Amino acid sequence: MRLILIGPPGAGKGTQAKVVVEQFGIPQISTGDMLREHKAKGTALGTKAAEYMNRGALVPDEVVIGMVEERLKLDDARNGFLFDGFPRTVAQAEALDATLARLGLELDGVVLIEVADELLVERICGRRTDKATGQIYHLKYNPPPPGAELVQRADDKEEVVKERLVAYHAQTAPLVPYYEARGILRRVDGVGDLAQVTARLVAAVSPKAK
Ligand code: AP5
Repeated sequence: MRLILIGPPGAGKGTQAKVVVEQFGIPQISTGDMLREHKAKGTALGTKAAEYMNRGALVPDEVVIGMVEERLKLDDARNGFLFDGFPRTVAQAEALDATLARLGLELDGVVLIEVADELLVERICGRRTDKATGQIYHLKYNPPPPGAELVQRADDKEEVVKERLVAYHAQTAPLVPYYEARGILRRVDGVGDLAQVTARLVAAVSPKAK
Protein backbone atom coordinates (compact mmCIF):
# COMPACT_ATOMS: atom_id res chain seq x y z
CA MET A 1 0.00 0.00 0.00
CA ARG A 2 1.39 3.38 -1.02
CA LEU A 3 -0.96 6.02 0.31
CA ILE A 4 -1.11 9.76 0.86
CA LEU A 5 -3.30 11.50 3.43
CA ILE A 6 -4.08 15.12 2.73
CA GLY A 7 -6.37 17.56 4.48
CA PRO A 8 -6.31 20.84 6.31
CA PRO A 9 -4.46 21.30 9.62
CA GLY A 10 -6.42 19.55 12.36
CA ALA A 11 -8.43 17.34 9.98
CA GLY A 12 -7.20 14.22 11.79
CA LYS A 13 -4.38 13.09 9.48
CA GLY A 14 -1.97 12.21 12.30
CA THR A 15 -4.67 10.57 14.42
CA GLN A 16 -5.96 8.40 11.58
CA ALA A 17 -2.50 7.67 10.15
CA LYS A 18 -1.47 5.91 13.35
CA VAL A 19 -4.43 3.52 13.11
CA VAL A 20 -4.15 2.88 9.37
CA VAL A 21 -0.41 2.09 9.41
CA GLU A 22 -1.02 -0.48 12.10
CA GLN A 23 -3.77 -2.15 10.04
CA PHE A 24 -1.69 -2.25 6.85
CA GLY A 25 1.76 -2.84 8.41
CA ILE A 26 3.36 0.11 6.63
CA PRO A 27 5.38 3.04 8.03
CA GLN A 28 3.83 6.46 8.63
CA ILE A 29 5.93 9.19 7.06
CA SER A 30 4.92 12.50 8.59
CA THR A 31 6.95 15.43 7.35
CA GLY A 32 5.60 17.54 10.24
CA ASP A 33 6.95 15.00 12.79
CA MET A 34 10.26 14.75 10.92
CA LEU A 35 10.66 18.54 10.90
CA ARG A 36 9.75 18.77 14.61
CA GLU A 37 12.40 16.13 15.36
CA HIS A 38 14.98 18.21 13.50
CA LYS A 39 13.85 21.28 15.44
CA ALA A 40 14.12 19.45 18.77
CA LYS A 41 17.63 18.22 17.92
CA GLY A 42 18.67 21.69 16.77
CA THR A 43 19.98 20.54 13.36
CA ALA A 44 20.63 23.14 10.63
CA LEU A 45 17.56 21.84 8.77
CA GLY A 46 15.47 22.13 11.95
CA THR A 47 16.61 25.71 12.61
CA LYS A 48 15.73 26.72 9.05
CA ALA A 49 12.37 24.92 9.20
CA ALA A 50 11.46 26.58 12.51
CA GLU A 51 11.56 30.03 10.89
CA TYR A 52 8.62 28.94 8.71
CA MET A 53 6.74 26.58 11.04
CA ASN A 54 6.56 29.08 13.91
CA ARG A 55 4.61 31.52 11.75
CA GLY A 56 2.39 28.93 10.09
CA ALA A 57 4.08 29.03 6.67
CA LEU A 58 5.18 26.03 4.63
CA VAL A 59 8.85 25.04 4.77
CA PRO A 60 10.50 25.53 1.33
CA ASP A 61 9.91 22.68 -1.11
CA GLU A 62 13.60 21.82 -1.63
CA VAL A 63 14.12 21.26 2.11
CA VAL A 64 11.14 18.92 2.42
CA ILE A 65 11.71 17.07 -0.85
CA GLY A 66 15.34 16.27 0.05
CA MET A 67 14.27 15.01 3.48
CA VAL A 68 11.55 12.76 2.00
CA GLU A 69 13.85 11.33 -0.66
CA GLU A 70 16.28 10.27 2.07
CA ARG A 71 13.43 8.74 4.08
CA LEU A 72 12.18 6.69 1.11
CA LYS A 73 15.58 5.02 0.82
CA LEU A 74 15.13 3.29 4.19
CA ASP A 75 14.27 -0.40 4.06
CA ASP A 76 10.93 -0.12 5.83
CA ALA A 77 9.47 1.97 2.97
CA ARG A 78 10.13 -0.74 0.41
CA ASN A 79 6.75 -2.45 0.78
CA GLY A 80 4.62 0.63 1.20
CA PHE A 81 4.10 3.80 3.19
CA LEU A 82 1.53 6.30 4.32
CA PHE A 83 2.48 9.93 3.81
CA ASP A 84 0.88 12.26 6.34
CA GLY A 85 1.28 15.94 5.43
CA PHE A 86 3.31 15.35 2.26
CA PRO A 87 3.08 16.40 -0.52
CA ARG A 88 1.76 19.84 0.34
CA THR A 89 2.38 21.73 -2.88
CA VAL A 90 2.12 20.79 -6.55
CA ALA A 91 5.93 21.06 -6.80
CA GLN A 92 6.26 18.47 -4.00
CA ALA A 93 3.74 16.18 -5.73
CA GLU A 94 5.67 16.42 -8.99
CA ALA A 95 8.94 15.64 -7.20
CA LEU A 96 7.30 12.61 -5.55
CA ASP A 97 5.98 11.41 -8.91
CA ALA A 98 9.49 11.63 -10.36
CA THR A 99 11.02 9.73 -7.41
CA LEU A 100 8.40 6.97 -7.55
CA ALA A 101 8.80 6.64 -11.32
CA ARG A 102 12.56 6.26 -10.83
CA LEU A 103 11.91 3.49 -8.30
CA GLY A 104 9.28 1.84 -10.55
CA LEU A 105 6.54 2.39 -7.95
CA GLU A 106 2.97 3.71 -8.17
CA LEU A 107 0.63 5.34 -5.68
CA ASP A 108 -2.39 3.27 -4.65
CA GLY A 109 -4.49 6.16 -3.42
CA VAL A 110 -4.70 9.67 -2.06
CA VAL A 111 -7.24 10.31 0.69
CA LEU A 112 -8.56 13.77 1.39
CA ILE A 113 -9.97 14.14 4.92
CA GLU A 114 -12.59 16.88 4.68
CA VAL A 115 -13.45 19.08 7.68
CA ALA A 116 -14.86 22.61 7.53
CA ASP A 117 -12.54 25.42 8.64
CA GLU A 118 -14.88 26.46 11.49
CA LEU A 119 -14.21 23.16 13.31
CA LEU A 120 -10.45 23.11 12.82
CA VAL A 121 -9.37 25.91 15.15
CA GLU A 122 -11.17 24.27 18.10
CA ARG A 123 -9.67 20.88 17.25
CA ILE A 124 -6.14 22.22 17.03
CA CYS A 125 -6.27 24.48 20.08
CA GLY A 126 -7.50 21.53 22.20
CA ARG A 127 -4.84 19.14 20.92
CA ARG A 128 -2.30 17.72 23.37
CA THR A 129 0.33 15.07 22.63
CA ASP A 130 1.72 12.50 25.03
CA LYS A 131 5.41 13.34 25.33
CA ALA A 132 6.50 9.73 25.83
CA THR A 133 4.37 7.90 23.23
CA GLY A 134 3.51 10.59 20.66
CA GLN A 135 -0.18 9.66 21.05
CA ILE A 136 -2.47 12.52 19.99
CA TYR A 137 -5.33 13.55 22.30
CA HIS A 138 -7.97 16.26 22.44
CA LEU A 139 -8.99 17.78 25.76
CA LYS A 140 -12.68 17.46 24.82
CA TYR A 141 -13.03 14.93 21.94
CA ASN A 142 -10.38 12.36 22.88
CA PRO A 143 -9.36 13.04 26.49
CA PRO A 144 -5.92 11.88 27.64
CA PRO A 145 -5.61 9.35 30.47
CA PRO A 146 -4.84 10.75 33.92
CA GLY A 147 -1.12 11.15 34.61
CA ALA A 148 -0.05 11.44 30.95
CA GLU A 149 2.71 14.00 30.41
CA LEU A 150 1.20 16.26 27.77
CA VAL A 151 2.77 18.82 25.47
CA GLN A 152 1.19 21.44 23.21
CA ARG A 153 2.74 22.18 19.82
CA ALA A 154 4.40 25.58 19.37
CA ASP A 155 2.33 26.27 16.23
CA ASP A 156 -1.02 25.43 17.84
CA LYS A 157 -1.79 29.00 18.91
CA GLU A 158 -4.95 30.45 17.34
CA GLU A 159 -3.19 33.18 15.34
CA VAL A 160 -0.69 30.67 13.87
CA VAL A 161 -3.46 28.16 13.10
CA LYS A 162 -5.20 30.83 11.00
CA GLU A 163 -2.01 31.31 8.96
CA ARG A 164 -1.71 27.53 8.50
CA LEU A 165 -5.25 27.48 7.12
CA VAL A 166 -4.40 30.27 4.66
CA ALA A 167 -1.34 28.28 3.52
CA TYR A 168 -3.47 25.15 3.14
CA HIS A 169 -6.05 26.81 0.90
CA ALA A 170 -3.46 28.64 -1.22
CA GLN A 171 -0.77 25.98 -1.60
CA THR A 172 -2.12 22.53 -0.68
CA ALA A 173 -5.74 22.57 -1.91
CA PRO A 174 -4.53 22.58 -5.57
CA LEU A 175 -3.45 18.96 -4.95
CA VAL A 176 -7.12 17.96 -4.94
CA PRO A 177 -7.67 18.57 -8.69
CA TYR A 178 -4.09 17.32 -9.32
CA TYR A 179 -4.88 13.84 -7.95
CA GLU A 180 -8.54 13.91 -8.97
CA ALA A 181 -7.46 14.20 -12.61
CA ARG A 182 -5.49 10.97 -12.16
CA GLY A 183 -8.51 9.16 -10.72
CA ILE A 184 -6.80 8.25 -7.44
CA LEU A 185 -8.36 10.78 -5.05
CA ARG A 186 -10.86 9.55 -2.43
CA ARG A 187 -12.81 11.97 -0.27
CA VAL A 188 -13.54 11.03 3.33
CA ASP A 189 -15.80 12.98 5.68
CA GLY A 190 -13.60 13.80 8.70
CA VAL A 191 -16.48 14.79 10.97
CA GLY A 192 -17.70 12.13 13.37
CA ASP A 193 -16.09 10.13 16.14
CA LEU A 194 -12.59 8.77 15.62
CA ALA A 195 -13.69 5.18 14.92
CA GLN A 196 -16.29 6.30 12.38
CA VAL A 197 -13.70 8.31 10.46
CA THR A 198 -11.26 5.36 10.56
CA ALA A 199 -13.93 3.04 9.13
CA ARG A 200 -14.63 5.47 6.26
CA LEU A 201 -10.94 5.81 5.54
CA VAL A 202 -10.22 2.08 5.51
CA ALA A 203 -13.25 1.54 3.24
CA ALA A 204 -11.96 4.26 0.90
CA VAL A 205 -8.58 2.58 0.43
CA SER A 206 -9.73 -1.03 0.36
CA PRO A 207 -9.28 -2.60 -3.10
CA LYS A 208 -13.02 -2.81 -3.86
CA ALA A 209 -13.36 0.98 -3.41
CA LYS A 210 -11.12 1.58 -6.41
P1 AP5 B 1 1.98 19.05 10.25
O1 AP5 B 1 2.59 18.50 11.46
O2 AP5 B 1 1.84 18.20 9.04
O3 AP5 B 1 0.61 19.73 10.66
P2 AP5 B 1 -0.77 20.00 9.89
O4 AP5 B 1 -0.88 19.52 8.49
O5 AP5 B 1 -1.02 21.44 10.11
O6 AP5 B 1 -1.72 19.05 10.56
P3 AP5 B 1 -1.88 18.82 12.07
O7 AP5 B 1 -0.81 17.90 12.57
O8 AP5 B 1 -2.07 20.11 12.80
O9 AP5 B 1 -3.31 18.12 12.08
P4 AP5 B 1 -3.76 16.66 11.74
O10 AP5 B 1 -4.57 16.68 10.49
O11 AP5 B 1 -2.62 15.68 11.81
O12 AP5 B 1 -4.77 16.45 12.93
P5 AP5 B 1 -4.64 15.57 14.27
O13 AP5 B 1 -4.82 14.13 13.95
O14 AP5 B 1 -3.46 15.96 15.09
O15 AP5 B 1 2.81 20.36 9.77
C1 AP5 B 1 3.21 21.35 10.68
C2 AP5 B 1 4.07 22.39 9.95
O16 AP5 B 1 5.25 21.75 9.42
C3 AP5 B 1 3.42 23.06 8.73
O17 AP5 B 1 2.64 24.18 9.11
C4 AP5 B 1 4.66 23.44 7.90
O18 AP5 B 1 5.27 24.60 8.40
C5 AP5 B 1 5.60 22.27 8.14
N1 AP5 B 1 5.43 21.20 7.14
C6 AP5 B 1 5.06 19.90 7.37
N2 AP5 B 1 5.05 19.20 6.23
C7 AP5 B 1 5.42 20.07 5.25
C8 AP5 B 1 5.57 19.92 3.84
N3 AP5 B 1 5.31 18.76 3.22
N4 AP5 B 1 5.96 21.02 3.15
C9 AP5 B 1 6.21 22.20 3.74
N5 AP5 B 1 6.08 22.40 5.08
C10 AP5 B 1 5.69 21.33 5.82
O19 AP5 B 1 -5.98 16.07 14.99
C11 AP5 B 1 -6.08 17.39 15.48
C12 AP5 B 1 -6.88 17.40 16.79
O20 AP5 B 1 -8.22 17.02 16.52
C13 AP5 B 1 -6.35 16.40 17.84
O21 AP5 B 1 -6.47 16.97 19.12
C14 AP5 B 1 -7.27 15.19 17.70
O22 AP5 B 1 -7.41 14.48 18.91
C15 AP5 B 1 -8.58 15.85 17.27
N6 AP5 B 1 -9.37 15.01 16.38
C16 AP5 B 1 -8.92 14.18 15.38
N7 AP5 B 1 -9.94 13.58 14.78
C17 AP5 B 1 -11.08 14.06 15.37
C18 AP5 B 1 -12.47 13.81 15.18
N8 AP5 B 1 -12.91 12.95 14.25
N9 AP5 B 1 -13.36 14.50 15.96
C19 AP5 B 1 -12.93 15.38 16.93
N10 AP5 B 1 -11.61 15.64 17.17
C20 AP5 B 1 -10.71 14.98 16.40
